[in-house]
Order: sequence, then structure tokens, then C-alpha cells
Amino acid sequence: MPTAVTTSPPSFLASLSQYESYEATPVIGTIFPDRTTQLSQLVEASNADELVHDLAVLVSQRGVVFFKEQDLTVEQQKRLAQKLGELTGKPETSKLYMHPISRLDAEFGREVSVITSKTAVNKSGHLTRSRASGGWHSDNTYEQIPSDYAVLRMHTLPGIGGDTLWASGYEAYDRLSPAYQKFLEGLTATHDGSIFNEHAKKLGIEINTDRGAPENSSTEMVAVHPVIITNPVTNLKTLFINRGFTKKINELTTDESENLLEYLYRHISENHDLQVRYRWQPNDVAIWDNRVTLHTATHDFTEYREGYRVIGLGGKPYLDPNSTSRRTALNL
Ligand SMILES: [Fe+2]
Repeated sequence: MPTAVTTSPPSFLASLSQYESYEATPVIGTIFPDRTTQLSQLVEASNADELVHDLAVLVSQRGVVFFKEQDLTVEQQKRLAQKLGELTGKPETSKLYMHPISRLDAEFGREVSVITSKTAVNKSGHLTRSRASGGWHSDNTYEQIPSDYAVLRMHTLPGIGGDTLWASGYEAYDRLSPAYQKFLEGLTATHDGSIFNEHAKKLGIEINTDRGAPENSSTEMVAVHPVIITNPVTNLKTLFINRGFTKKINELTTDESENLLEYLYRHISENHDLQVRYRWQPNDVAIWDNRVTLHTATHDFTEYREGYRVIGLGGKPYLDPNSTSRRTALNL
């Protein structure tokens, strides 16, 4: 069952109120600055289900939440990513994501992606792009069942640089005029992950067809989702397109679709007051809701950077016409 949206952020979530936290910006991001607040203890606590449920609600409200200097093991990270979704009502068949070009002999199993600067530059196509804003995306929206929550721990970082930015889909929706919101609510978009088919071909490997949910088993990774969706945890509307994977607005002509998508991508990347930029310290953990945020890395560093990412799968994205917007819910 969807959890009702709260009108006051973290303090309402009783089980988390014992931990110090503050909002990174008015619209997105909450930081738990105290290094004694450890996710490892949270997931092992006797009331772990209550704590993780409240954490999931907070992440869905704030888009992304940060914890400093964490000792979370990979096993705990996997458990946390799965529990965040389970405790907020995701389908039983939705498990952790296994990437289409993940390998069976992956260091920590197929559910753990090693985010490494060794391959990131080539993978993101950064060298062929002229603008850093080209990297904005939500994870795996090309799947029938895309991600709900993602948990990333960055353990090795350059001395300076390598920040990650997140943008709020809630606020992106709220910034549009009522007429434009209504127009977008009647549209669907095609999300395309065929870039991974190309990668697989180059690497001479097969696409992994076991990707964490029975619906995600095709080698063709193309999905149609509404342009505006409702977050099932907060019951709030959010803009659900991204430059990384959204290729077409289905109800429009090619020219109209290209124009509209370009406008929406700029709407996200050029409104820096709906974004948060995070400067990592070693072993910081970010947890975000992929349904209501986009993110992008900053490739401005030369030293080695590496982290472990685990992605949970949610349900099929939908628009509930009776859901509302974040600003309306908060009386802003
Ligand atoms: Fe990502």
C-alpha cells in the first residue's frame, strides 16, 4: 500500500529522529553527518524493519540521502537495497538488479556493480561529448521493471573532484505550468538500453537475461513508461524521462519528440536549484530513489575512483491520475 506523504520531512519519521540529519537543499537531499550513525547497525538492529522502512520513505521523499564514512559490508548493502523496496510494498518477484553485461564471475556477484573510473570514461561516452550535462540519467529505465532504490558506497576517491549530482523529478514536474503538466500526463516514452547490446557484441559476450525480475528477461531492452509517473511510496507525481535512455515520446512526431525531450533535459540540467551536488569522502554512502531522481557523475579527476553499487528493482511505473505534486502536498 502506498504510504501517505508527510508534510514535515525527517522528524515525522519517528524511528529515524534519534539520528542527526539536515536537508542539503530545500527540494532534494538529506545528510546524516554523524559518523556514528552507521547503516550496518541500522540493518542489524532489533527493529531493523521499522528503521529501513522509514529510511525508504525518507529517501522517496527527499530523492537522495547521504551517510558519512560507513562500514557497511557488501552483504549488508545487498540486504538493505532489497529491504528498502520490500518494506515499501514492491512486488515479491522484484529482486536486486543484475546488469545486462554483468559477468557470472563478478567479484561480489552479479548484483554488485563495481563503479570504476578505469572504464567509466569510455562507458559513459564522456570523451565524445562536449557537455558534462550529457550524463544525466536514471538507472535502467529501459527495463520493464526498472529500479526503485540504489545504494552506492564510494570507497576510493580522488583527492579532489568526482562529485555526483542528483536532480529532483518532483521539482521538475512542479516547475511546469498546469497546462504543460496536463499535456505530459497524456504521453508515454520509449526507453532504450540497446547500448548494452552493442557493448556485449564488442566484448563477445551474451546479454544476461536474468536481470532480477521475470519481466526483465528479454535480450531486447526497450520499455515504454508514462512521461509522468506516481511514486508508489509518496503518492507524488514526478517527471520520468532521462537523457541517458529515453529515446522517443511515442504520441508525437519525431521532430516534436526531439524538441520536447531536449526542452525537458534542459529543464532538468539548467535548473540547478532542483539539484544537489555531493562531494564524496571515502566510504560515504548515497541511497537514492531512481523513480524520482536523475544523477550524473563529474569526470574532472585523474586519480583512481571506485565504489560498489547495488540496485533494487521496484514495480511497473504507472501514473495515478489522483496523485498529487510535491509542492501541492507540502502546501508550498
Ligand atoms: Fe547511474
